[in-house]
Amino acid sequence: MAQQKALFLESIGGEFAVRTTEIYKPGKGEILVKVLATALNPVDWKVPVHKFYVKEEDHPAILGSDIAGIVEALGEGVTSFSIGDRVNKYAGFQQYVLVPAEIVAKLPDNITFEQASTIPLGLATAVEGLYGDANRAKTGAKKLAPPPWEAGGEGAFKGKSIVVIGGSTSVGQYVLQLLKLSGFSTIITTASLHNADFLKSLGATHVIDRKADLVSEARKILDGPIDIVYDTVSSKELQAQSLDLVAPGGQVISTLYLQVDKADYPDKNITEIFANFHLPNMRALGVSLYGKLRDLLASGALKPNRVEVLPNGLAGIPEGLKRMERDEVSGVKLVVKPFETP
Ligand SMILES: NC(=O)c1ccc[n+]([C@@H]2O[C@H](COP(=O)([O-])OP(=O)(O)OC[C@H]3O[C@@H](n4cnc5c(N)ncnc54)[C@H](OP(=O)(O)O)[C@@H]3O)[C@@H](O)[C@H]2O)c1
Repeated sequence: MAQQKALFLESIGGEFAVRTTEIYKPGKGEILVKVLATALNPVDWKVPVHKFYVKEEDHPAILGSDIAGIVEALGEGVTSFSIGDRVNKYAGFQQYVLVPAEIVAKLPDNITFEQASTIPLGLATAVEGLYGDANRAKTGAKKLAPPPWEAGGEGAFKGKSIVVIGGSTSVGQYVLQLLKLSGFSTIITTASLHNADFLKSLGATHVIDRKADLVSEARKILDGPIDIVYDTVSSKELQAQSLDLVAPGGQVISTLYLQVDKADYPDKNITEIFANFHLPNMRALGVSLYGKLRDLLASGALKPNRVEVLPNGLAGIPEGLKRMERDEVSGVKLVVKPFETP
C-alpha cells in the first residue's frame, strides 16, 4: 500500500510525532489532494493543551484544518475537477488528504499554494458568523443576507456601522474584507497598532489599540449604539464589552464559547460560531461560497492572509503551535509545506 508522512498527536494531551501512514482512496464525490501547503490554526494548539475536541479513543490523531494542493485522484461521480487541478480545502497535517469535491475551489494563478492554505477555516468562520444561520438556530439572531457574492449582496449594508474585535486574526482579516464587500460604511476594529495600515487596506475604517478601552474608544467614533459586534478574540471581558456596545435587539458574534452569563443580557443576542462546511447544516452556504471563491480571489476582492512559511515541513508544526499559544504571531498565518518534512 502506498505510504505518506503525517503528523500524529500520539495521545490525549500528548506529544506530536511524524510517522508514515497509508494514502487514502477517494470515495464517491471525493478527491484525493496532494498537500503542497497546510496552515496552522489556534485549535491545533488548543486540542493538546486543553484536551478537548478530539476524543481519547480517536488518538493517535491527525490535526489540521487548512490545505492547498493538487488533485491527485478522483472518486466516483466527480466530474468538475481534473487530475492536476490546483485546489484548496479543509484537511490536515499530512501529505495527502481526501476532501468532498463540492466544497473545494480551483485556485486562480495569482494565488500561491501557501496563501491559499490560509483561507478555508478563517474564511468559513467569517462567512458562517456573518451570513450563516446554522449557529443562530439556537439564539434566534438574524444573519446578514444576502452575502456579497450572491445577487443583491454587494454593498447591501451601506450606511451601517460594525465593530470587529481582533481585525488582525486570520478570521478578522476575512471578516473585514467581507464587510467591505457588503458595503458597511464604518468598520471599527481592534489590533496592535503596528497592523493598523494593513487592516485599513483590508477594509477597516478605524483601528483602536487592542490595549485601549474598547467601549469608550468605539463610542467616540460611533453616532449611536450598533447592531453587531464580531468578536474574534472572545475573552470574558471582551464578550461583556461587546454586549455593552450593541443596542437592545443587537447581536454579538463570538468565535469561542460563551463566558458571560446570557441571563445578564436579556435583550441582546450572543451567538457562538462553530464553522465547518463539511456539516450538513452549513454545507449550502459553503457550496455557494466555493462556487464563487476562485472569482473573488482572481479579482482581488478577497485576499488571503499574509504567510510565514516554517522550515522542516510537518516536523516544524509543533514549534509553530507553541509560538501561537504564546501570542507571538501577529497578522500572519503560519504555514508549512508537507513535502519538506525531513
Ligand atoms: N469556532 C470556530 O469554528 C473557530 C474557527 C476558527 C477560529 N476560532 C477561534 O477564533 C479565534 C481567532 O482565530 P484565528 O485563527 O483567526 O486567530 P489568529 O490568527 O491565530 O490570531 C492571532 C492574532 O490575534 C490577535 N489578538 C490576540 N489578542 C488580541 C486582543 N486582545 N485584541 C485584539 N487582537 C488580539 C493578534 O493581533 P495583533 O497582532 O494585531 O495584536 C494576532 O494577530 C481563536 O480563538 C480560534 O480558536 C474559532
